[in-house]
Amino acid sequence: MPCMTKLQFKNKWVLVTGASSGLGAEIARQLAANHGANLILLARRKDKLEQLKSELEGNTGVKVKLLIADLSKPGEVDQALDDILADDQLYAAVLNAAITHFGPHRDLSWTEYETMLQTNVNAVVRMTNRLTTYFENNNHEGGLMIVSSMAALIPIPYQAVYSGTKSFLLGFATALRFELKNKNFSITVFTPGGIETEMTEGEKFNDLRNWLTPVSQVAKDGLNAFEKRKLTHIPGFSNKMGAFLIKLLGRKFILTRMSSIYKSSLLKSEKSK
Ligand SMILES: NC(=O)c1ccc[n+]([C@@H]2O[C@H](COP(=O)([O-])OP(=O)(O)OC[C@H]3O[C@@H](n4cnc5c(N)ncnc54)[C@H](OP(=O)(O)O)[C@@H]3O)[C@@H](O)[C@H]2O)c1
Repeated sequence: MPCMTKLQFKNKWVLVTGASSGLGAEIARQLAANHGANLILLARRKDKLEQLKSELEGNTGVKVKLLIADLSKPGEVDQALDDILADDQLYAAVLNAAITHFGPHRDLSWTEYETMLQTNVNAVVRMTNRLTTYFENNNHEGGLMIVSSMAALIPIPYQAVYSGTKSFLLGFATALRFELKNKNFSITVFTPGGIETEMTEGEKFNDLRNWLTPVSQVAKDGLNAFEKRKLTHIPGFSNKMGAFLIKLLGRKFILTRMSSIYKSSLLKSEKSK
């Protein structure tokens, strides 16, 4: 891989998808406050994005544009990309939006799984294709960070489709990085473990709460890896240890234990209803 200079976000336009809550909102806050980046924030909830826009413009003086789009709808993904690329100003993008379902696989209908696949996989591949073409064809400097998960390395029972989507992203984006011709453009895959966000709210996660990391720490770690144009990045000691242990002890051993821990957390939340 070619030697590259670090990404420098100051006064540049950076897209963050899934910026209305959790990791995306925190990445946006840190990009504005610590890096002076101008932001394009994308999600479905307009009110949340508007709140964040006025917070960031008021506190940091950066410019913020909003894109209200539902990434589970292919037409809206394409329209968003047209808007993002229209003025040829994009420097970087964090493809972070995703959904999960924590519960038995049989609980969701096929339509609900299609929505998850479209949001977590199809929209990310579509956006990556268009953004990569933009950076490669124009020889623009910049970077793309795809938010995967530790679930890509250690698949999570009771979040089977979600784990599959995150594995897909890891394989897809790491392979693609080695096809890039523009030496000033990089793709980074970020694989955080459990984070305190809306995704892990609710009683189902009660037994797993000790495993969750504050979102500000995870966002800082991810942006640091992105800035350095790392190929992949696992944040935190316990996640790195998890990735090591699954190699050492094997998937069957680790997943048998994880399965019983996740099942017990689910059952306790069912009983308390
Ligand atoms: N939380 C964890 O434990 C954890 C662990 C590892 C990796 N991750 C990854 O971190 C990323 C962020 O997750 P989070 O924990 O911050 O979850 P979150 O708080 O639920 O945020 C998810 C974001 O995605 C957006 N989103 C969901 N569906 C969308 C759609 N159809 N169209 C547009 N935007 C959509 C949501 O916005 P709207 O609802 O407003 O559209 C929201 O801004 C995800 O990729 C997730 O897989 C999370």
